[in-house]
Amino acid sequence: MVSLLPLRWKNYNWLGSQEDQFFLSFADAWRGIIKRVDIKVRKILVPDFYCPETLAMYKNYGTLLFYKTNQDLTIDIPSYLMAVKSYRPDVIINYGYISSPLQDKNVRLLLGKLPETIVIEDCAHRIVLKDDLVFVHSNHFYIDSIRKQTGILGSHLVDQSQLLKKEHFSRMNSYKIKSTWLKFLQEAINLSTYLVQSRKLYGKSEIYFEKLDNLIGTYEEPTLGSVLSGNIWNHLDLTKLMAHKQKLASVYLKRLTGIKQENFYVPPLAERNLSYFPCLVYGANNERLVEYLATRNIWIGSLWDLPSRQIAGLNNDLYRSVLVLPLTWKTTVNDVMLVCQEIDYFFGM
Ligand SMILES: Cc1ncc(COP(=O)(O)O)c(C=O)c1O
Repeated sequence: MVSLLPLRWKNYNWLGSQEDQFFLSFADAWRGIIKRVDIKVRKILVPDFYCPETLAMYKNYGTLLFYKTNQDLTIDIPSYLMAVKSYRPDVIINYGYISSPLQDKNVRLLLGKLPETIVIEDCAHRIVLKDDLVFVHSNHFYIDSIRKQTGILGSHLVDQSQLLKKEHFSRMNSYKIKSTWLKFLQEAINLSTYLVQSRKLYGKSEIYFEKLDNLIGTYEEPTLGSVLSGNIWNHLDLTKLMAHKQKLASVYLKRLTGIKQENFYVPPLAERNLSYFPCLVYGANNERLVEYLATRNIWIGSLWDLPSRQIAGLNNDLYRSVLVLPLTWKTTVNDVMLVCQEIDYFFGM
């Protein structure tokens, strides 16, 4: 819930509060770009470990081509460079759960030579600050998804193209009203769950989460986010929020890397700016661990399930093994130690 996040009264204008660059969701921002750019989209290059619903949406626009994700959730840079050179995609989605391909110098050099290619930095799982933005050319866009970090809906789109103006997009429609209402219900139940520590209420909040997840990004018309959400974001103390997440992540990292099990692995860079802390659990232990922790009232789940309609080219092993642990503002260091202790206990059983 927003009220439970750290606030800052001074407006810091983290990613700009221009209404025409603030969409209801990542998918709406994507549709906004596609509507405005003058490029025929045929080939879209994406990572092989990525959000299945968003992949399904891209598939409506062009053929999906893949670059590889490593076991430690970083991107396999040679496979990325090779894919860009050989496929010559019209759109590239830059994303890695732990690090974007853009962090590599050779990637930046190559993309800089392809000004016609739309490059989208998918920042759905991280908090983006203005200082983080590096543009390789004017068709380079950044999109975040603040519902992954807070109780509000919205996605900032940052670019240098000046192509996107609010008059091109829908400001109000039934999709926006329904999504906002579902988000409100989910957050209200979340807050009650937190206050009364009820498992039954947690189940209810999951229902609204699922409903919203199924609805968000499905509307054909790119829709702008609400002015209120945009303003709330500008008053959140993101530096404090990031520092808290990093502190929790470093405790997870230290404690969990101490567990020596051949079917359990913690990516070494997992203390970066992330929305959830990742670990990999292979084989039957994956489901067993989730079930065991649920009996201890600990929320843990897979990052993404494999899509029900198969998409060839995905890294099935990662979909089956990556689990994520909470890194919310409400999570304390003590909670993290308890989670680690339970995981340790599970593997010792
Ligand atoms: C990596 C990634 N990108 C994009 C999205 C889509 O974000 P939104 O729900 O804001 O449309 C998701 C959704 O979970 C995601 O995981």
